[in-house]
Amino acid sequence: MVLSSALPENHYASDSSLHSTFASRYVQDSLPRFRMPEKQIAKEAAYQIISDELMLDGNPRLNLASFVTTWMEPEVDKLILQSLNKNYIDMDEYPITTELQDRCVNMIARLFNAPLKDGEQAVGAGTVGSSEAIMLAGLAFKRKWQNKRKAEGKPYDKPNIVTGANVQVCWEKFARYFEVELKDVKLQEGYYVMDPEKAVELVDENTICVCAILGSTYNGEFEDVKRLNELLEAKNSKTGWDTPIHVDAASGGFIAPFLYPELEWDFRLSCVRSINVSGHKYGLVYAGVGWVVWKSKSDLPEELIFHVNYLGADQPTFTLNFSKGASQIIAQYYQLIRLGFEGYKSIMENCRSNAKVLCDGIRSTGRFDILSKDVGVPVVAFCLKDRSKHDEYEIAENLRRYGWIVPAYTMAPDAQHISLLRVVVREDFSCTLAQRLVNDIHKVLEYLDARPPRLVEAVAAAITHQEPELSSEIVPEGIKISAILNETILGLKSPRRLGSFKTNGVC
Ligand SMILES: Cc1ncc(COP(=O)(O)O)c(C=O)c1O
Repeated sequence: MVLSSALPENHYASDSSLHSTFASRYVQDSLPRFRMPEKQIAKEAAYQIISDELMLDGNPRLNLASFVTTWMEPEVDKLILQSLNKNYIDMDEYPITTELQDRCVNMIARLFNAPLKDGEQAVGAGTVGSSEAIMLAGLAFKRKWQNKRKAEGKPYDKPNIVTGANVQVCWEKFARYFEVELKDVKLQEGYYVMDPEKAVELVDENTICVCAILGSTYNGEFEDVKRLNELLEAKNSKTGWDTPIHVDAASGGFIAPFLYPELEWDFRLSCVRSINVSGHKYGLVYAGVGWVVWKSKSDLPEELIFHVNYLGADQPTFTLNFSKGASQIIAQYYQLIRLGFEGYKSIMENCRSNAKVLCDGIRSTGRFDILSKDVGVPVVAFCLKDRSKHDEYEIAENLRRYGWIVPAYTMAPDAQHISLLRVVVREDFSCTLAQRLVNDIHKVLEYLDARPPRLVEAVAAAITHQEPELSSEIVPEGIKISAILNETILGLKSPRRLGSFKTNGVC
């Protein structure tokens, strides 16, 4: 919007001249979107303009697509506000913040059973999220592997990494940005995680690590890290290689220790050398914090650690970026000491029982198959038993009318013909909300049942608008139709967004 020219020239010089905060009183035309405006505006007007536009975003609390925390206690909000002006990297200036980060690393490494003596400092770093943590872990594996190959006088230009096809997009980014081949084990209908046997078959002398996921992004299922470890140990002792495992515990890292303490997936297993976890998922902190921890010092090559002489002190850093806010680190420390093991356990138990309420409600409609597991991250992933008339995308679109944001997406290769819906049950998703969501799913099903199938609707529309010469409502098999209509029909018949690309809804 451009500011009203009817206002006096010096109007915006003084904020005290404002009597109303409503932007419409101060603006007539659109603000420029591509060029910085020439003139300043009053702070109340700027606030109102932005806040009004943001009203059109979805409600984060009803965003059931995301694993990322959408509610924290007011006390921690205060701490976050108090530390918004601190740069995490100024370690010499903010030694207490640095100390809090180290305490978080120590607590998380011990939660994952790192073999540390009492008082021994764990090896790890705070990151922006699991993606940065994964880049760092991947780089450490690549460098370690290269060093070993160089010492043996062997080629070191074709590193690869073995994962399931269900890995999150950040692994593909790592592979592309850091020139590592990604060898993925394809999924199959009914089995939506990496098969450890097939993964170990793919391992060769150039494999820098195998990545196992604790809490697949698609359906929350835990991969069998223990079995993978057994198979890899056997292969390593046969071949003389030392192929390690990284566990991507982005969402499961703050679930398994509390709900399934007997499950062996972490540093208790010999080949597991590093683990990442998102502090901003079940670590219960707002977006912007993740962690990577290594089993021991020898797993992080020293040459990757930068010693920066900055503002008068030596700062060891291992991060991709330099500056970032300190508040999320402080918030993570708050959660760890505020909740303790007992508090995290009770929140995770609550999430699990709310996920069960939701899962039972969805199952009781008789219309869906459940693709998530009882043991795993508390998500409910489900797909229609019969999608001949309507599909999961229509359900997602119609749930939006009730305020719910539930993503529909397709499985990873080779199960991409399966499309599904996924609800992430977070701390702030109560049992009452779960029951309301089930009610609204019922309403959406009733609404869709009363409507003509989407395919018929779309074909009719396409005929009316683009293909007037085709008068029938349904195109019979074998009829010659134009490319544009054919594309419309194919796009509707098969799960949308087919292909090897990761979909937006899966984050
Ligand atoms: C298994 C897995 N790994 C990595 C990520 C990326 O995490 P972040 O958003 O913390 O970077 C996600 C995000 O959902 C995930 O589910």
